[in-house]
Amino acid sequence: VYHTPELTPISSVPDCAIAIDVLRATTTMVTALGAGAEAIQVFSDLDKLMLVSEDWPAEKRLRAGERGGAMVAGCDLGNSPLDCTPEVVKGKRLFITTTNGTRALQRIEAAPMVLAAAMINRAAVVEYLVSQSPETVWMVGSGWEGSFSLEDTVCAGAIVDLLLDKLNCTLEELAGNDEVISAVSLYRQWQNNLLQLFHHASHGQRLLRLNCHEDLKYCSQIDISAVLPMQKEPGVLGIRD
Ligand code: MLT
Repeated sequence: VYHTPELTPISSVPDCAIAIDVLRATTTMVTALGAGAEAIQVFSDLDKLMLVSEDWPAEKRLRAGERGGAMVAGCDLGNSPLDCTPEVVKGKRLFITTTNGTRALQRIEAAPMVLAAAMINRAAVVEYLVSQSPETVWMVGSGWEGSFSLEDTVCAGAIVDLLLDKLNCTLEELAGNDEVISAVSLYRQWQNNLLQLFHHASHGQRLLRLNCHEDLKYCSQIDISAVLPMQKEPGVLGIRD
């Protein structure tokens, strides 16, 4: 588990890399693909997003931009999963830039298998890992501007907790992996009260100040979506076939 894109090594790549941005980028991506978006194209840079999306037919694209939790002026959407209804996103490509989540995805785009995880699709991620058995798996929390975040760490812990269960393993077998043990412990402590944990989290507090109570509620649900976003080409995610 790496807690931010900045802490994620660039000198090597794992067999599988998983980006986590529970509040809210990866939750939004799962929701948009589940609602019929054609694909999600991620950018860390807003100007580049605007330029590249120009080449896409206007009626088939949506530009989503978030900075500091708020929608970027000039975009069609911000980064709320609740805006990604079938009426809005079906058949469209989402060109998206967010403060941290899209940077996490870009940091790991060289891995042969890149997935996007959130609490809402945790079981779908685990099921795929069990079926593919990659030898090395990195989970990259997006954090906030280089800092640790509770919500991404608890999601990494939720993934490992279910994985241990499916593989009939115990936490003791992960001795020596301090990041994973602390993430699983955090999840076990808060699994029945994730919404409250998100209220304590620094980005949760930022979103509450922006009146995004419903977003926190939605993002704190576990295993409600079977959608697994997977990188199809560098920077472009679609639903796993
Ligand atoms: C991010 O990328 O930092 C987030 O997804 C921020 C948000 O919109 O909540």
